[in-house]
Amino acid sequence: MSLYKCPVCDETLELLQRSWRCVNNHHFDIAREGYVNLLLAHQKKSKQAGDNKMMIQSRRQFLNHHYYDTLPEKLSTLLKVYFSTDTFSLLDIGCGEGYYSDFIQKNLPECLMWGVDISKPAIIAAAKRYPNISFSVASSYRLPVNDQAVDVVTKIYAPAESNEIFRVLKPNGLYISVTPGKSHLFGLKKLIYDTPKEHDEAESVPVGFERLDQAVLCDTIEIDNNQDIANLLAMTPYFWQLSESRHQEIAALTALNTEISFIINIYRKTSGV
Ligand SMILES: C[S@@+](CC[C@H](N)C(=O)[O-])C[C@H]1O[C@@H](n2cnc3c(N)ncnc32)[C@H](O)[C@@H]1O
Ligand SMILES: [Zn+2]
Repeated sequence: MSLYKCPVCDETLELLQRSWRCVNNHHFDIAREGYVNLLLAHQKKSKQAGDNKMMIQSRRQFLNHHYYDTLPEKLSTLLKVYFSTDTFSLLDIGCGEGYYSDFIQKNLPECLMWGVDISKPAIIAAAKRYPNISFSVASSYRLPVNDQAVDVVTKIYAPAESNEIFRVLKPNGLYISVTPGKSHLFGLKKLIYDTPKEHDEAESVPVGFERLDQAVLCDTIEIDNNQDIANLLAMTPYFWQLSESRHQEIAALTALNTEISFIINIYRKTSGV
């Protein structure tokens, strides 16, 4: 069965000559870059939904320099425990410009990867660079995905509601949530706030799931150039909270050491549909 459902009438979408179509003849064409836009105009809260082009480019350049690779490496290792040889589908929600989706897929050749993000610039960048992955513009709060259609959902630093994740997962499907650990980017926060606060790590087990595993990754990254520091700042929400003088101080920095920390929770869908 196809994974996508029609955002207008909820019927399954089938791919016919570069267009996803439902039985009621709603159709969504595959764009030149290879993605499909399944976000209806009224589902957008603003014209520019999700991360903007500047944030996407900064994230891509920063991730390209492998500062955060411990995260997708660990995710790949964990997934191999559950899916060693079997083909499985993975939906990466809030996938951004696709760095992690691609990293995981390359490590797990049996993985059929689908990426969803509400930001059109993110999905355009993702689709252009990673043609083997199916990308769509959509909201994680209203996924254009059939009930019980996917084996795994990953949600990496992205907003979502667990009810919707529950709906799209097959029985016993896995939900992998990645959130910041206490000290994530504390070195950067110290430059921004007079009294920086640690992240709140608490995440309760979502209804309908059981926790199978939790991994906490902690590391320090050493950034030795101004461009990467600027990219790191621009891909975080802190960018918008800086005063002009702090902006200038950080713009002049040529080195930064900062803690990074990721909390990975693996949940299994336990109950009903
Ligand atoms: C912090 S970024 C993380 C991107 C990627 N997972 C990564 O870790 O590199 C959060 C992403 O969530 C997306 N996003 C925000 N609201 C969303 C929504 N309602 N539905 C889907 N994606 C959303 C943003 O556009 C952005 O790409
Ligand atoms: Zn339809």
